[in-house]
Amino acid sequence: MSIVKINVLTVPAEMRATLEQRFAGRAGMVEAADGFEWFELLRPVEGTDAYLVYTRWRSEEDFEKWQASNAFQAGHAGAASAATGAQPAATGAQLWSFEVVAAAAPRTT
Ligand code: HEM
Repeated sequence: MSIVKINVLTVPAEMRATLEQRFAGRAGMVEAADGFEWFELLRPVEGTDAYLVYTRWRSEEDFEKWQASNAFQAGHAGAASAATGAQPAATGAQLWSFEVVAAAAPRTT
């Protein structure tokens, strides 16, 4: 079964639009990573103020390879303030790891 890695971002209210714009203009390189299965940026509505960057991978090893890759660096070029001189949109980040235990998708027939 797949694994899920969620990056939990603390984003000040006045930086939300900036964060969403950065993701709208994201590198789009994760799609080509070996073992990549899914990505979603989740905007908080109720119960938390954190944005979740949800990613799903074939294996832990595939995720670790992507994190160590140039594609990861390129995917975060805009997030690094030193590189762009821009203010980072997030003031904190925490990584959550899960194993998928059960899953479902809509029937296609
Ligand atoms: C200090 C930690 C991190 C921060 C503050 C952060 C923030 C960001 C931001 C602002 C972007 C938008 C693109 C940009 O501005 O360059 C981005 C892209 C992305 N982040 Fe992170 N991130 C961090 C670590 C991680 C980790 C550990 C994961 C794994 C779940 C992750 C998953 C992604 C993905 C999938 C993209 C899109 C990349 C692409 O399109 O190729 N990030 N991140």
